[in-house]
Amino acid sequence: MDKIFVYGGKKLQGAVKISGSKNAALPILMASLLIDEPCYVENVPSLADIDTTIGLLTYLGKKIEKNDHRVYIHRDGHLKHTAPYELVRKMRASNLVMGPLLARLGKVDVSLPGGCAIGARPIDIHLKAFEKLGAKIKLEAGYVKLNANELIGNRIHFRFPSVGATENVLLASVLAKGKTTIENAAREPEITDLAGFLNKMGAKITGAGTPKIVIEGVKKLHGAKYRVIPDRIEAATYLITSAITKGDVKLLGVEPNHLKAIISKLKKSGMIIKTGKDSIESKWVRTLKPVSITTAVYPGFPTDVQAQWMALMSTVRGKSEIEETIFENRFLHVAELQRLGADLKIKGNSVHVAGVKKLSGAPMMVSDLRAGAALVLGALAAKGKSVISRIYHLDRGYEHLEKKLKGLGADMRRIHS
Ligand code: EPU
Repeated sequence: MDKIFVYGGKKLQGAVKISGSKNAALPILMASLLIDEPCYVENVPSLADIDTTIGLLTYLGKKIEKNDHRVYIHRDGHLKHTAPYELVRKMRASNLVMGPLLARLGKVDVSLPGGCAIGARPIDIHLKAFEKLGAKIKLEAGYVKLNANELIGNRIHFRFPSVGATENVLLASVLAKGKTTIENAAREPEITDLAGFLNKMGAKITGAGTPKIVIEGVKKLHGAKYRVIPDRIEAATYLITSAITKGDVKLLGVEPNHLKAIISKLKKSGMIIKTGKDSIESKWVRTLKPVSITTAVYPGFPTDVQAQWMALMSTVRGKSEIEETIFENRFLHVAELQRLGADLKIKGNSVHVAGVKKLSGAPMMVSDLRAGAALVLGALAAKGKSVISRIYHLDRGYEHLEKKLKGLGADMRRIHS
């Protein structure tokens, strides 16, 4: 398994190009299951999760070519309706085949994803919504099996604005008969991007990006060309890199409007942030102040940046509090950051942080993607050498991480072992 060696203490400076959004590209690629016409998707990041998605779609019967950041999806022949355990266990977002396969084939069997490092992550909201659209559900031998002769539009109210459930309902209801309304829908930019792609395919979706989405079902969709939005979580991670290394980093190819919550907290802490049309410059000019955060659904502070913020606050003298409200167990990075000398105490769903004068390099182990980003940030700020293992988690969501950080002046290298 590969490891990353980081020699910390360098100030990172320069420009970095932000990749396409992983969490927008995944459902967009899954949407190709709705049609047997070609689709062309640009700005798709080169990541392990994208390879897993292409592997799953290929297994189901799609013919796909990926060339750099472009994905070309050919006409398909016969589609399978089962997403097996071996593929689903690699990536929870595999459950996004449920919506399109149910709509196109009238049946789909998906292995239950099970819990993961950051929480139990059930799919009850997805299933309840499919039932509302007329699907019959059976749980058998670790698989959830959905059947529907036809899907019929309905009013669906989510008990929580789940990102995945909103995407799955969009992917199913575009081909349902009549009108579907999702109330308390997720508002994340990735939802708006999926709706944008579906509308380009001929769907009739309005209200994406608001809590109420209305979908007028259509009989058939057609092929489309689309460009995925920039990755706001990757962008946030590089903004925090500039803060934690007392550096000056310019992000290129980014959507500043998607990063308002992060920018506002960084400014509050003392960073100088300038936004352009598709760029953000973040500069350290003075000692930062501690700033507490509470994670929330969009447009609140993203749970996917909680770990990175904790790494930053661990280095900012004074006290702050990090509250996690989206996932029940997303603090696995705490014990690893403590190995660098961070002063962190878990109290229920919060972590009390007392910023320390300096972190010192140490061996650490990654538990999940964003925890991994936090450990890299901590290592960049720490004095001396850190060795980070289980970095395959990072390869799931950060394109060319070492190359980009080295381009900013980081002293790090990957060891293949
Ligand atoms: N939940 C339920 N029941 C459901 C669905 C969700 O209880 O049927 C709960 C989950 O257990 C969790 C909360 O609702 O506690 C939020 O889950 P949500 O469905 O919104 O998240 P997701 O679709 O599984 C996506 C991202 C995550 C990101 C979350 C929250 C993708 C592929 N994944 O997951 O990204 O943390 O939304 O914003 O889009 C990451 O990129 O590192 C990552 C984990």
